[in-house]
Amino acid sequence: MRSLVTGGAGFIGSHLVEQLLEMGDDVVVLDNLSTGSLDNLELVHADPHLSWHQGDVTVRSDVQWAMRGVDRVFHLAAAVGVHLIVESPLASLRTNIHGTELVLETAQQVGVPVLLASTSEIYGKNTADRLHEDADRILGSTLKSRWGYAAAKGIDEAFAHAYWSEHGLPVTIVRLFNTVGPRQTGTYGMVVPRLVGQALAGEDLTVHGDGHQTRCFSFVRDVVPAIVALAEEPRSRGLAYNLGGAEEISVLELAARILSVTGSASGVRLVPYEQAYAPGYEDMRRRVPDNTRSHELVGFTPTTSLDDMIVAVAADLSQRPARGGVLVGATESVPVPSPLTHPRWH
Ligand SMILES: NC(=O)c1ccc[n+]([C@@H]2O[C@H](COP(=O)([O-])OP(=O)(O)OC[C@H]3O[C@@H](n4cnc5c(N)ncnc54)[C@H](O)[C@@H]3O)[C@@H](O)[C@H]2O)c1
Repeated sequence: MRSLVTGGAGFIGSHLVEQLLEMGDDVVVLDNLSTGSLDNLELVHADPHLSWHQGDVTVRSDVQWAMRGVDRVFHLAAAVGVHLIVESPLASLRTNIHGTELVLETAQQVGVPVLLASTSEIYGKNTADRLHEDADRILGSTLKSRWGYAAAKGIDEAFAHAYWSEHGLPVTIVRLFNTVGPRQTGTYGMVVPRLVGQALAGEDLTVHGDGHQTRCFSFVRDVVPAIVALAEEPRSRGLAYNLGGAEEISVLELAARILSVTGSASGVRLVPYEQAYAPGYEDMRRRVPDNTRSHELVGFTPTTSLDDMIVAVAADLSQRPARGGVLVGATESVPVPSPLTHPRWH
């Protein structure tokens, strides 16, 4: 089996690449290294079954090149996270909408199935006790760029579903909730590595808003096997699947847990959303998954405890302190990676 992983040099993509190689796949990675890093592939970069292509999912020739001879596509490349979308709305929308359509169109021409990585963000402000895949989406104004990520991923899902219903392209959609683990960076505002990085540095943990917003965190090594299992299950086609954590926790409680697990003497400081992001910023108060559909089809059961996730993230950040990057406010500039000159491995 030859698999293409777009975004394979990213946080989740690199774990997926490792699992596919372990399973005996030949793996092609297409990534522009905008938020990903070749360091994420350091454990497997010498594997002769891995092919690397630095390229862009919005560039037709890159996508066509990467898709030559593959049997399936895992499409994870995206401008990820609200910070990035707020900072660079246009480029993010182009990647997340045009890039995904190009991947789907090319997959249809080549005749290979696609697994699309979507997000719990698409549910927006719906605070239902358990968000089922058919739940309503409640999004704020289109003029608030914060909602661009959810809007774009929603369009991606609609494109994927249309390719399935009109052309019979086998597509599976996974909606990832807050996924954490080694290699995730806090640079773009992801809350767990950002707070753990602050705890390790002895800085105040900066919690946005009043801290009572809740999330369910899941561990990347619980989620990736489910992504693969769903891709391999023909009955998954044409539908979306939640993959989220089991424990609901407020961000304030998360900060306290991080201080306890890391033994940090740091304090906790509330930062208003306007300061952390932009005036008028809106957040979701609550986001709790209903994992029934993915559990029933492929047995998805998140097992890693939040404490163990924090330990794993702390160990990773300690080994690679540069990845702990702390982003407090939208006024701080997000580092833009310089064009890389890494040679193509194969
Ligand atoms: N981490 C989470 O909690 C989470 C939650 C919901 C959904 N997701 C989805 O999972 C996927 C992976 O996210 P992640 O957390 O690993 O983020 P990430 O930023 O680590 O990975 C994204 C990868 O895509 C690459 N990329 C971005 N734009 C590209 C382009 N135009 N062409 C080629 N490559 C490009 C980046 O360099 C990076 O390696 C994304 O689709 C994201 O929307 C993640």
